[in-house]
Amino acid sequence: MHNKYIKFNIPYDTKSSKKNILKVLKNKKFADGEFQKKCQLFIQNKINSKCVELTHSCSSALEIAMLLINLKKNDEVIMPSYTFTSTANAVLLSGGKPVFVDVRSDDINLDPKLVEKKINKKTKAIIVVHYAGNSCDMSYFLKLKKKHQIYLIEDAAHSFLGKYKDKYLGTIGDFGAFSFHETKNFVGGQCGALSINNIKFRKQAKIILDKGTDRSLLNNKKKYYSWKGIGSEYRATELSSALLFGQLSKYNYIQKSRERIWNIYFQKFKKNSDKNFYILKNNTKFKVSAHHVFILIFKSLNLRNKFILYMKQRGIECFFHYYPLHMSNFGKKIKKIKLPVTEKIYKGLVRLPLYPSLKLSQINRIIRFSKKFVNSI
Ligand SMILES: Cc1ncc(COP(=O)(O)O)c(C=O)c1O
Repeated sequence: MHNKYIKFNIPYDTKSSKKNILKVLKNKKFADGEFQKKCQLFIQNKINSKCVELTHSCSSALEIAMLLINLKKNDEVIMPSYTFTSTANAVLLSGGKPVFVDVRSDDINLDPKLVEKKINKKTKAIIVVHYAGNSCDMSYFLKLKKKHQIYLIEDAAHSFLGKYKDKYLGTIGDFGAFSFHETKNFVGGQCGALSINNIKFRKQAKIILDKGTDRSLLNNKKKYYSWKGIGSEYRATELSSALLFGQLSKYNYIQKSRERIWNIYFQKFKKNSDKNFYILKNNTKFKVSAHHVFILIFKSLNLRNKFILYMKQRGIECFFHYYPLHMSNFGKKIKKIKLPVTEKIYKGLVRLPLYPSLKLSQINRIIRFSKKFVNSI
């Protein structure tokens, strides 16, 4: 391996996470402890959510949302194909059918006009994915929700602390699902959260999260819990919560660092983007990014693959992202469709390293070699 190898991602390391984890080990309280509650409260207050439940993943948060809206066979849920498998799995696990719609090339988020064309009487919900931490056009999706009386769920796996107008992403639809997986801006190992914005679901969510029991709703009058319905073990463990809480306590530093690096890339690459590659837009008046990833979109798969190899040979780890779900063998069994923008973008897309401990000298090296590559095409 190159002696100055630049890894694609390194989770931020905080002293308080270590201290928190040691406290959990000492107290021997590994489930439903103080750090789970502290994380929930912190997130809830920070993003102005009515209710936040810490889960063991964004996947589980999405699954809970699907159980809550009570999907039935033949119910359709519209979503992008350019997303992680979890978005579609949550729908299938509840017996519904994912309907894949194309994204826009300028932000890789669902194209609202195409979404509206796919809404019919079977449509129960739309799951928007705020790709790379950048908000979808939520005003439009809220209008669709109201007009067609359907649920709106935000897959905010990438976008904790991103904003649309004055609202935090994940708090705008009926539910928002966050990921705190080790690949994300804030890390709890395998961890996530569900923001329940449609408060009528709060009680039922607590039952589903605790294996179908009303244990978390007990009060002094009712001493024994009972089985209330279906559910599973969806809650985050105390060790994960302790790790995450250490990170949340440094949220300002973590987000500011990511923003700073993102902006350096943006300033350098915006001048260079040309017929061979382009980059996404920066924050706008209405949208504040969570700066989860910085991407270059090359015009072909061949160029993208050559770039990844070129950077690897120079000790820099870069990654592509999703393989569109509708193009996978499993996805084709749902329906054979064509989504031209998705099919073009996935081929050209590559992510550059972006994390708080990335040094300026490393950022400059990444930029220098990227530009060298682009100039040599
Ligand atoms: C858009 C999207 N949704 C959901 C997930 C699943 O997140 P988790 O690993 O926390 O279950 C991911 C994971 O990367 C994702 O990218």
